[in-house]
Amino acid sequence: MNITQFYSSLWKNYVEITPQAGKIHEIFSTRGETVINDHVAFRTFSDSPISLDNLEPALRELGYSAFDSYIFKSKNLIAKSYNHSDKDAPKIFLSELQRHHLSDSSQKILSRLVSDIPANCLNGCSIFFDDLLWSPISIEDYDTLLSESEYAAWTATMGLRANHFTVSVNHLKQFNEVSDINQLLKDCGFAINTSGGEVKGTPEIYLEQSSTLADKITVEFADGTERVIPSCFYEFAKRYPMSDGELFQGFVADNADRIFESTNAAA
Ligand code: NI
Repeated sequence: MNITQFYSSLWKNYVEITPQAGKIHEIFSTRGETVINDHVAFRTFSDSPISLDNLEPALRELGYSAFDSYIFKSKNLIAKSYNHSDKDAPKIFLSELQRHHLSDSSQKILSRLVSDIPANCLNGCSIFFDDLLWSPISIEDYDTLLSESEYAAWTATMGLRANHFTVSVNHLKQFNEVSDINQLLKDCGFAINTSGGEVKGTPEIYLEQSSTLADKITVEFADGTERVIPSCFYEFAKRYPMSDGELFQGFVADNADRIFESTNAAA
């Protein structure tokens, strides 16, 4: 699979449960903009066939190499970013829930999910947009996870898929500021994640970001109960040149920490 096919399948899978992303993409297109992706992000579970380390070869196959790593202590997460040899290709931000840091009850629920994952699931890059790798959890288990880790509850229901795509503000012609995009989206009726302010980051740390609040979809749980829960969101990133004149290529943990909250169920 080449990188164009990969992103085409990934986008299709993402927009299916994130209709706002399709609509926002259209808003940019009708204003004559060509949307270039800054990065896409995935969420996964540690100590599993789809752990960060186990997924890395699939990313390498696509032409990616590890660029930097990050720790989010209060959310029990680690993450790595990956850059492509083609500078125009999106970066990848892959985070992983440290299951062993959670309570016994949450660990038990997640162990069951992980034990469902077929050992031979890592058959190329389609793992990033394949169907859920485990049977649905019960609503009680979902609530147990949610009370401790929003990330755990989200990943348990949504699985390994694009958690968000990110528009590169640097590549837009008419919108130079992240705040301009936030205003446009609010005018069009979309909700912006306000955790830590509508714009996360500053030019001084070389990265400004904002995001919508996740779309909501109806999910059927193991016992047939249905509930409307957060799916995925859309992000916007502007990178600034560092002292050497090169655009900053990494991520900022403080920004990302707030961006994670775009899928909070209470939001
Ligand atoms: Ni992001």
